[in-house]
Amino acid sequence: MNGFGIDLGTTRTVVCHPRHGIVLDVPSVMVVRTDTRTKRLTPLLAGHDARALIGRCPVGLATTRPLRDGVIVDLEAARAFIVRIVPQMAEHRWQRIRPRAVISVPAGSTALERRALLEAAGEAGIRRIRLVPAPIAGALGCGINPLEPRAHMVVDVGGGTAEITGFCFGGILAHRSCRVAGDEMTIAVDRYLRSEHHLIVGELTAESVKCDIASEWNSSLVAQGLDSCTGGLRLVTLSVAEVVDAIRPTVDTIIAALASCLDDLPPQAVNDILQEGVWTFGGATRLRGFDKLIEDAFGFPVRPAERPTTCVAEGAAACLLHGEVLDAFDADVVAEAV
Ligand SMILES: Nc1ncnc2c1ncn2[C@@H]1O[C@H](COP(=O)(O)OP(=O)(O)OP(=O)(O)O)[C@@H](O)[C@H]1O
Ligand SMILES: [Mg+2]
Repeated sequence: MNGFGIDLGTTRTVVCHPRHGIVLDVPSVMVVRTDTRTKRLTPLLAGHDARALIGRCPVGLATTRPLRDGVIVDLEAARAFIVRIVPQMAEHRWQRIRPRAVISVPAGSTALERRALLEAAGEAGIRRIRLVPAPIAGALGCGINPLEPRAHMVVDVGGGTAEITGFCFGGILAHRSCRVAGDEMTIAVDRYLRSEHHLIVGELTAESVKCDIASEWNSSLVAQGLDSCTGGLRLVTLSVAEVVDAIRPTVDTIIAALASCLDDLPPQAVNDILQEGVWTFGGATRLRGFDKLIEDAFGFPVRPAERPTTCVAEGAAACLLHGEVLDAFDADVVAEAV
């Protein structure tokens, strides 16, 4: 089949083929050269190679992310990024001829933001595009049937946004989105290192400190950076507990959004969710102790997705075979591009 499910995320872009599985999983980052005279941007690299240059770009080059908070902010950059990833996801030349795609979008995206995505993907050569709300695609990827007459709730915490969505029988019951997610957690680590340890680190180091605390056996970790007083290189040993504490306010914001989303649900639906629990996915839900913090706050079970970073793309690919899901959620994300 000449079609793909695409999760174009703020941090990572994942593409899934309905039969071949995940065919692409790359950082949503590009390296561009700016023409000093015309100010025109020329894309040079996209994906892993581009991410490796974050914080170490030579003069004249810059790293850029085509999406912010799950939506396109720069149409030109987004088009250039999609143009670069299409050959990587479609191995054979014939697969690149007018490929079909189901692309996930944040459930809280505006019509204008969805139009920008359709335009960028259309200009990059993808045809017959349909959109699906990311929480619904993620739920499908977790094996949930969003058309059954039973309420479910999913918590998707990615790089740019945390989305909490309750749905039942092909419709959304309640939705909350906050622009506080994995990137904010990285910023919290960065700020903590500066203020408490006087250590200046790059974005990649702050992110790896955040991700390293997920490994159970690490009760302490080491961060390397510049001493903000002397300017010299310094190593700092950090305890897992202090890093978790630094990130805690970010998780509290997500917990508050979840509480407010639950408030909006009808009592019968709340009953279903209390019994089933909430499903969590998105890279930032891999943060050490994330599920436990939610369980402690609400008392219902938390079900982490088996494949938290790829289930949205898998669900989008499944939609290629289950048009009824797309039709059901059409009112939530309208439009089909030609
Ligand atoms: N083990 C880990 N512990 C903590 N955070 C992690 C871990 N692994 C990945 N992350 C974080 O997950 C985030 C990326 O998640 P994901 O790939 O789901 O985002 P996205 O889909 O691109 O973003 P969005 O959905 O907001 O557009 C990043 O902030 C990354 O640092
Ligand atoms: Mg995402």
